[in-house]
Amino acid sequence: MERSIVTTEDGSPSIYVKAIDECYHSTHGARQESEHIFIQTALRQHASKRLSILEVGFGTGLNALLTCIEAPLRELDVHYTGIELYPISGQEIEQLVAFSHPHEDVFLRLHQVTSSGFTPITSHFQLKKLEVDFTQIEIEENSVDIIYFDAFSPEKQPEMWSQERFDMLYKACRPGGILTTYCAKGVVRRAMQHAGFVVERLPGPPGKREILRARKLDI
Ligand SMILES: C[S@@+](CC[C@H](N)C(=O)[O-])C[C@H]1O[C@@H](n2cnc3c(N)ncnc32)[C@H](O)[C@@H]1O
Repeated sequence: MERSIVTTEDGSPSIYVKAIDECYHSTHGARQESEHIFIQTALRQHASKRLSILEVGFGTGLNALLTCIEAPLRELDVHYTGIELYPISGQEIEQLVAFSHPHEDVFLRLHQVTSSGFTPITSHFQLKKLEVDFTQIEIEENSVDIIYFDAFSPEKQPEMWSQERFDMLYKACRPGGILTTYCAKGVVRRAMQHAGFVVERLPGPPGKREILRARKLDI
């Protein structure tokens, strides 16, 4: 798949995939989008200090990096699982590393993880990477506190956004769990609701009117 590095409007880089004419992030600002949708709307809203986070579409590792930076500020103990079927190449990592300044060492460690077990990246953050097809896997029930749902759009990859996938993710969530995504389409919102989530439409980052936050209620 032909991919190229692009610079988004806040100066942070992203990857453009020609075959599907889609970018890994908002062209209005990759970092700003990630901060808004995943760090502010999900990570900072969960009450627990010990968090199991699942990311659908690890990609450049931007969401993992920002989570890793946030973790010591709130004394979090994060176990982060990144699902990615098409990991970025060594050449892409080299092209992206400069943006992570002054956290280049962390960024490189995130991309060096190869084993399927948890690898400590910092004293507050452990990473497990699963190089698998999200549409084919089951996540253990009742095992996840936060889901960063960052797949390509439902127009380009509808199979990632199916009812069956949200049913599986709902079961994977612990009570109190939070899922956020940049996509605010009605069909996606209804699939989340049908799975059991309570879903809010919230203001999005620049360039995006609304985003979705889904919660599994505490019982
Ligand atoms: C929108 S991008 C994710 C951006 C990423 N979160 C980041 O910050 O760079 C979607 C990601 O899903 C991955 N992907 C596509 N199909 C997949 C599949 N079937 N299973 C797992 N990952 C997949 C792509 O390779 C891509 O990295």
